[in-house]
Amino acid sequence: MSISRISKGAFLASIVFFISCSSDDEETIPMSDAPAAVEASVVSNEIFTKAQGYQSWSKFAANQTRMKSVTHMNMYVLTYHNDIVANAIVNKTLPLPDGALIVKENYAAVIDSMPMALTIMYKQQGDWYWLQAMPDGKVFLDDQRKPLEGKDVAMCVSCHRKSSNDAVMLHDFTM
Ligand code: HEC
Repeated sequence: MSISRISKGAFLASIVFFISCSSDDEETIPMSDAPAAVEASVVSNEIFTKAQGYQSWSKFAANQTRMKSVTHMNMYVLTYHNDIVANAIVNKTLPLPDGALIVKENYAAVIDSMPMALTIMYKQQGDWYWLQAMPDGKVFLDDQRKPLEGKDVAMCVSCHRKSSNDAVMLHDFTM
């Protein structure tokens, strides 16, 4: 394993640590050779397939260019949404309908060509499905080594439930 791969792995693990809302444990995470990401579940793979080509989708008015996100470990973020979300913006639809898909790129540096992580929200059977993946589709693990995918990813929900816009932070659908 090359040095750059080791430091990248440690960095990715630290993203997962810092993004989590649990502030009880302030110790540094132990270094480990274990992978920071695993193969995606069937459902996550389906969502990842739906997200292909997201770079040509619309962006939220509040995030038209890469912006520094304090909540996402000072990563530079850029967020795209599909047509179902675009229609909900026009029609002021809340809660968002099934099929709504939001893909947020998280870049380590503002000039990087590849995001370190994609954080994704997908509306399915009336609930958001949460996913934090690498650009190649592998799913990150949290500090308990549990994959960050599914409808009950506590780490994502703990912050996003503070939104009064069906868990979406970047847009007020009532405006
Ligand atoms: C510490 C709080 C926090 C945590 C934890 C968090 N988010 Fe967010 N998220 C935000 C904030 C604030 C924004 C809007 C500003 C920005 O993009 O940084 C946001 C924006 C987003 C967006 C763009 C749509 C929107 O809601 O505005 C997606 C998609 C997203 N987050 C996915 C996730 C996923 C998936 C997880 C879990 C792996 C997660 N987030 C964890 C705070 C958080």
